[in-house]
Amino acid sequence: MHVKEMFDLKGKVAFVTGAARGLGFAMAEAVAEQGATTILSDVDEVAVNEACARLRGRGLSAEGLVLDVGELDLLRSTIDRTAAHFGRLDIMIANAGISAGPGPLTERGAMAQFDPVHWDTLLRLNLTSVFITIQAAAAHMRKQKSGRIVVTSSIAGIRAERMVGYAYAATKAAVSNLVRQSAVELATDNVTINAIAPGPFLTDIGQGRMRQADTAKQFAADTLLNRIGLPHEIKGLAALLASPASSYITGAVIPIDGGATAI
Ligand SMILES: NC(=O)c1ccc[n+]([C@@H]2O[C@H](COP(=O)([O-])OP(=O)(O)OC[C@H]3O[C@@H](n4cnc5c(N)ncnc54)[C@H](O)[C@@H]3O)[C@@H](O)[C@H]2O)c1
Repeated sequence: MHVKEMFDLKGKVAFVTGAARGLGFAMAEAVAEQGATTILSDVDEVAVNEACARLRGRGLSAEGLVLDVGELDLLRSTIDRTAAHFGRLDIMIANAGISAGPGPLTERGAMAQFDPVHWDTLLRLNLTSVFITIQAAAAHMRKQKSGRIVVTSSIAGIRAERMVGYAYAATKAAVSNLVRQSAVELATDNVTINAIAPGPFLTDIGQGRMRQADTAKQFAADTLLNRIGLPHEIKGLAALLASPASSYITGAVIPIDGGATAI
């Protein structure tokens, strides 16, 4: 197969959660540019409609959908409805996630400040919703005997990270291993599942703290390239993991972090 064909997603249907901005939008844009009909879902109605309009304005095939991944029954039924509407589901990018606030060396982030409600919210949004997304998508893909699931984890799930909250680090480690564990079962039906583990990227996460110069500088200092990433820099890896080009990659957790985890 020619390498161009390996990245061709014409005729495929992709669904992305948390797609209105940041890394989710960049990954949605990537698969839409490869030719997939792309469903952008997000809890932020205005932003997701704008994001969808941006892609459509470029002649790409995109649909916007309001969806809170914390509403687990709705999440499942929306994925089912989408697969039924399009008659297939080829790519699922489980990306929606939130920050847990500051890291353990701050007053607010120290373990003494444990808040069970906040902890449960993080688990629901960053972990349980990812499992439901995988479960619902996989049910359709297994019938097709093909599919690509891509989950946004974090390097905070691979190693200790001074700048992120406890619950975030815990959920991202869990999500990475959930991907490996799911790969066992899904491989039997030719469905692959992989995690992208980003390092620091310039997005709105954590009330926009990556946009504060001092925070960005601290994160940048932890990378070999000495800078934080720009959202478009995730597109290549997303394009690979969503396409036929990654047919022999499954159960992998792939860092994209300017070399942070090489240190
Ligand atoms: N930016 C980074 O440095 C970084 C690093 C590692 C991992 N990540 C992960 O990347 C993913 C995307 O984060 P981002 O940096 O693009 O953040 P972002 O805040 O820029 O974008 C996240 C999007 O998800 C949406 N969202 C939030 N809660 C939602 C919910 N309950 N249901 C549906 N959508 C919801 C938001 O409205 C927003 O559009 C997250 O899983 C995050 O943990 C980000």
